Amino acid sequence: MINLVTPKLNYKNGLLHFEEVNLCSLVTTYSTPLYVYSRNQIVENFLEYKKALNKRKHLICFAVKANTNYQVLRIICSLGGGADVTSGGELYRVIKAGISPKKIVYAGVGKTKEEIMFAIKNGIFLFNIESKDEAILINTVAKSFRKKVDVAIRVNPEVSTGAHYHISTGEEGTKFGIPIDELIEFARYILYECKNLNLIGLHYHIGSQICLLKPFVDAAKKVVKEIHKLSQIGVKIKYIDIGGGLGIRYKNERPPTPQSLILRLFEIIPEELTIICEPGRYIVGNAGVLITKVLYHKKVKNKNFLIVDASMTDLIRPAFYGAYHNIVPLSVNREQLTMNYYDVVGPVCETSDFLGKNRYLPDIPNGEYLVIETVGAYGFVMSSNYNSRCRAAEIMVNGKQHYLIREREDYKDITKNEYKC
Ligand code: LLP
Repeated sequence: MINLVTPKLNYKNGLLHFEEVNLCSLVTTYSTPLYVYSRNQIVENFLEYKKALNKRKHLICFAVKANTNYQVLRIICSLGGGADVTSGGELYRVIKAGISPKKIVYAGVGKTKEEIMFAIKNGIFLFNIESKDEAILINTVAKSFRKKVDVAIRVNPEVSTGAHYHISTGEEGTKFGIPIDELIEFARYILYECKNLNLIGLHYHIGSQICLLKPFVDAAKKVVKEIHKLSQIGVKIKYIDIGGGLGIRYKNERPPTPQSLILRLFEIIPEELTIICEPGRYIVGNAGVLITKVLYHKKVKNKNFLIVDASMTDLIRPAFYGAYHNIVPLSVNREQLTMNYYDVVGPVCETSDFLGKNRYLPDIPNGEYLVIETVGAYGFVMSSNYNSRCRAAEIMVNGKQHYLIREREDYKDITKNEYKC
């Protein structure tokens, strides 16, 4: 009757457990809304990628934008992972978490001078350059440090992915990367005009939550072709960064596994190249749940609303992308509850503040809890203080154990920067 999509979630005696931790006990101690992550799921997901890539020279750079919690980054670090960062703030976090700068790649269309200086000072592995203006600035900063820095060009292979248009980056006309037909000219520019840049890689990232193999295959083929052309103008590419983007199961999607994706790419990518990949969602997506309390029932005409204490400020994906997240009750212990269709909505003053629409759920009373699944990626990191709401606490479970990995914010936390002035 109740379908779960999260591998490490299961009901024991009617109570939802994550790994072996009873989620009811966490709610009693830490209140709601509450993010909970499974350490072992993160490890398994990472090792799946690692196993798939093992036969080739490779580096897995976790796309930390998906989840920047310090303890999550510590897990990645302990597994030998690197990081794909997209801002000075992310760079600061991953260095703090102990990830070697030699394993950090830095993408993003708007790196500032300060961010570039910070990255060069820390000796990161690779800048993924996205425009000529950026190449000029990185070259100038590198020169001022009397350094030659390693760079890759982010190329836009112009393939369509079938994913939501907000998260498709590799289609024609987006702001990301250098259009593929301008790549050779751009490489020549770096080669001859940017003496402090060492062009050794090509990078592409075509989008996110991609559930088909074809876009990955099409993009790889296009980019590998360019590597041959580049060698003819004297550019020796050593690294190919295939980005992230592999989809996961939120409802009934059947995305390829890392194994099947990588094996197929091995057929396209020449053996001498080191493969860098940047999975984000795959590593953490199904390792997180969000627990929320039912505050009120409300009936408007024929529609039933469940008003809960989590909102778009905690999880914006439904409001922003129309994303589906499975919602289940925390406890199914009581005698045969009747079921009904509900819109699960939050307290924020926006019509778009919903977490799920038209969900068939047991008629649980006010004060009981719901669990929103598959929120480990782009969940907490996209949360905000809109409506002066305090951000949730985060917990990590590991077998029977759990630990608090981020305290719940309070009113002082959300106002302190103003009172300082
Ligand atoms: N590399 C680059 C350069 C990226 O821009 C991204 C994600 C990734 C890697 C990781 O992609 P993943 O493996 O996680 O699909 N907020 C959206 C997703 C935005 C993704 C942005 N870039 C969401 O909630 O679906």
